[in-house]
Amino acid sequence: MTRPRNDNFLRALLKEPTDHTPIWLMRQAGRYLPEYCQTRKRAGSFLQLCKNPSMACEVTLQPLTRYDLDAAILFSDILTVPDAMGLGLYFTEGEGPKFERPLREEWAIRDLTAPDPYEHLRYVMDGVSEIRRALDNSVPLIGFSGSPYTLACYMVEGASSSDYRHVKTMIYDRPDLMHRILSVTADAVIAYLNAQIESGAQAVMIFDSWGGGLSAAAYPEFSLQYMQRIIAGLIKEKDGERIPSIVFTKGGGLWLESIADIGCDAVGLDWTIDIGEARRRVGHKVSLQGNLDPNVLFASPDKIASEAKKVLDSYGPGNTGHVFNLGHGISQFTPPEHVTALVETVHDYSKILRINK
Ligand code: CP3
Repeated sequence: MTRPRNDNFLRALLKEPTDHTPIWLMRQAGRYLPEYCQTRKRAGSFLQLCKNPSMACEVTLQPLTRYDLDAAILFSDILTVPDAMGLGLYFTEGEGPKFERPLREEWAIRDLTAPDPYEHLRYVMDGVSEIRRALDNSVPLIGFSGSPYTLACYMVEGASSSDYRHVKTMIYDRPDLMHRILSVTADAVIAYLNAQIESGAQAVMIFDSWGGGLSAAAYPEFSLQYMQRIIAGLIKEKDGERIPSIVFTKGGGLWLESIADIGCDAVGLDWTIDIGEARRRVGHKVSLQGNLDPNVLFASPDKIASEAKKVLDSYGPGNTGHVFNLGHGISQFTPPEHVTALVETVHDYSKILRINK
């Protein structure tokens, strides 16, 4: 198997030398792009877009056509896994995701099983294969999943939540039930990510968007240990190439050392931690991905350039170990031309840093 022609993203994750600091953006295919909104309209809804492999492929490629990005990410959603478990995912305009059958009853939790990804999530695997064909070895394709805890938040609450009342009640009153959900979901995620790898994903990322809302004692027990189990269960090599893994706990800055210890290749950072400090703490163990505040993209292109340079300067010298990204997903209100300024700055300035080192 050959690496993509631009393999800087894989190189940075594997701590091999890079020509420039690679960049991709969480939610790079999304509502800030007019062409995305058009395809979504044609699909009928966000979920129909996710479930149609050729349309999912089309929107995956849209940001790469516009910008000189170093990686593509599968267009899908983390909630397809609980949907495949039978919870009935739907989206209401302006209110985000919801489940018809939230997991609250003991009998339903005992009955929960991990879905066969080739059967219940076939459309995702078909999308991955189609995207790989369309990319034609230009840049790598990232596969992804939610972390068991983040998925459990939606499964138990049945929607987004401001206080995670049902989840936290279960954690403290019925930890046995929460562990049962997390354990089945971890098995589901292992099978799901491995199926994405078999179908062509060249790196994988676990989104633990809500892990940062756990207490210091609860985080290792209810989120981290399940991500560790997933990393241990992943296919590590395909066709002679290593498949690197990235773990992103939003709000996990305090726990960086323990996250870096679970066997992943890279740790994703939100914007609340200085990337130079993160590098000093864990950079000898893992690569780092991040971590510009997504709201910087509302500012002028000049400001965007100076803020991006600050992140690169803070990461410091060396030609590997850093994948530039935002600290969370790009906002739907981002002016698309502002992303051009960011991508160009990261590429140009990181090349200058390599010359001046
Ligand atoms: O990064 C990418 O471009 C890949 C696609 C991707 C989406 N969601 C597309 C999407 C990925 C990796 C996700 C992950 C995801 N989904 C997470 C983890 C990352 C994070 O943001 O913390 C979470 C928590 C979800 C669940 C989810 N999906 C929510 C809460 C929402 C509603 C958000 C909103 O702003 O309304 C979604 C919908 C969603 N997923 C959209 C996109 C582009 C917007 C849907 C639309 O077109 O209306």
